[in-house]
Parts: sequence; structure tokens; C-alpha cells
Amino acid sequence: PTEVSRIRNISKVQFGRHDLFPWYFSPYPEAFTEEDCVFICEMCLGYYGDQMEFVRHRRKCQLFHPPGNEIYRDDYVSFYEIDGRRQRTWCRNLCLLSKMFLDHKTLYYDVDPFLFYVMTTRTDKGDHVVGYFSKEKESADGYNVACILTLPQYQRKGFGRLLIQFSYELSRIEGKLGSPEKPLSDLGLLSYRQYWSENIIDTLLDYNERGEKITIETISTALAMTTQDVEHTLQVLRMQVYHRGEHKIVLPEKLVKQREVQRQKVRRTIDPEKIQWKPPV
Ligand code: COA
Ligand code: NA
Repeated sequence: PTEVSRIRNISKVQFGRHDLFPWYFSPYPEAFTEEDCVFICEMCLGYYGDQMEFVRHRRKCQLFHPPGNEIYRDDYVSFYEIDGRRQRTWCRNLCLLSKMFLDHKTLYYDVDPFLFYVMTTRTDKGDHVVGYFSKEKESADGYNVACILTLPQYQRKGFGRLLIQFSYELSRIEGKLGSPEKPLSDLGLLSYRQYWSENIIDTLLDYNERGEKITIETISTALAMTTQDVEHTLQVLRMQVYHRGEHKIVLPEKLVKQREVQRQKVRRTIDPEKIQWKPPV
């Protein structure tokens, strides 16, 4: 891991039809920091300081989707699974691009130990990267997400929720309980808290409706979340009470009302039936 907590070095990036304004340092070659604009190919993620060179590249670039297996497709998004070892250059380029929006101090040039789950949307020009999460092939701590990012032009549109849901669906298929790598960024924490709260409340409402008893363990299994994350969320939401020597889960009326309001917003979700994936061996 290289120390990269340095100051933002790229002022502007042209990416497809979007201009991006980086938030943080990213270790692109030194020469690129001199450019007014860096041109990044939306498909191969290659970077160019010279516009003419970039235009020549775009004419030749033969990639129309991320280089991996499409493991999910619905009428809105696709997911590709990409092995860092097999697609080293593409994955390194993805890390360089995403580092501009990630504040962690280390950057892993060594992409070999990771799988990348890249979410795209479709146009007639191809499948365009919206966001991704990376996952260690073998995580000693049982993390199901290492890095997670929605590109800034797509943020606050519900894509982060889809990425997070997808990571838990993979854990469910693996028969594991997952949790994101810590520490989370501020935006990461906000998004996870929101995802955890919504899903825990919905699970409680379902169980209530069926008149079934619920415990932290049943919530954890139902959502493929670790018991620590369930318990922590219950505490934040003040949904755990200690009564007559027993821990109880309560669902305050206020939260039920809030959830009803939220549910009015039409939201896309991942359809687990459409995931074509087996855990890598
Ligand atoms: N302010 C307040 N709440 C926010 C927020 C923000 N800027 N961004 C996300 N949230 C919360 C909201 O509750 C939101 O739900 P709502 O829009 O219905 O209110 C919920 O998270 C999910 O938002 P969503 O639109 O699905 O997420 P996103 O596509 O913007 O992606 C991240 C979330 C974290 C992936 C994105 O912010 C990102 O890439 N950040 C930079 C990289 C990063 O920090 N990654 C995490 C590293 S640990
Ligand atoms: Na949103």
C-alpha cells in the first residue's frame, strides 16, 4: 500500500459526456497533473492528456462493456464480475478513477486479490459504468465489500442502494453474513445506515404481519448482515430495550410512519432471481 493522502492533483476529467471534478488525490502519472483536463475512456478507462490522442483512441477502442462476465441484467442495470488478476489494467484504471472520489489513504495497485462488481446502465453505445464495489477473494475478516463507489454524476439516484443490496445478495448466495470493510467514509456510513435501517424495519414489519417472533439472529440471517451490524443499527434507531431482564426489539410508531412515507418513492431493487452467479472456487 502506498501513502496517497496528498492534495487533489487533477482539476478536471472528461468521462463520456460528463465532466468530473475530482475530490481527492489520485496517483495518475505526474505529467497528467499539468493538464487542464484529463480524458478518460468510458469503456477501457484508459487516460489521455492530449485530446487528439484521446479522439484517435476512441475511434479504435473495441470495448463496449466492462471486461468480465455479465452476472446480472434487468431492464435498468447490469452487473459484471471482473477478476483483478485477469483484467489487471482495467481494474487498475478503475482504482485510479475511483481514488479521485475516495478519501482512504492507501491505494491498492495490487488488484490481483480482488474481484470487482461493476454496475452499468445501457445505451445504444454500450454499457456505461455507473459504480462498483470491490471484494477480496479471501477476506480474513469476512468483509463482503472493500471499496464502494457511485461515480459522482450518478450519485443520490439510488444506485448506491443497488450496489449495497447486490453485495448482500452475493453473501446470501455464499451462505455467509457480510459487512463492509471499516472504516467507512462519511458518505459510505450514511448510505449503509440508510440501507440497514430500511431493511431491518421492513423485515420487522414482515415478521409482525405474520405474527412471528424475531431476534437479532433471524434479522441477520434474513438480510445476510452480521449480527454486529444489526445490533448497532437497532441501537442507533433506539429499537432495543431492556425490560425485565430481557432484551427486546421494539418498532417505534414514528419509524413505521417514516418508512411508509419513504416507500411512496418508487425505488428500484435488485431481483435476486436474475443473478447468474456461483461463488468462485
Ligand atoms: N447526503 C445525505 N445522505 C446521503 C448522501 C448525501 N450526500 N448520499 C447518500 N445518502 C444516504 C441517503 O439516505 C440516501 O437515500 P435517499 O437518497 O433516499 O435519501 C442513501 O444514502 C442511498 O443513496 P444512493 O443514492 O443510493 O447512494 P449513491 O448512489 O449516492 O452512493 C456512495 C453512495 C457512498 C457509494 C457514494 O456517495 C460514493 O460513491 N461516495 C464516494 C465514495 C465513498 O465514500 N465510498 C464509500 C467508501 S467506504
Ligand atoms: Na437516492
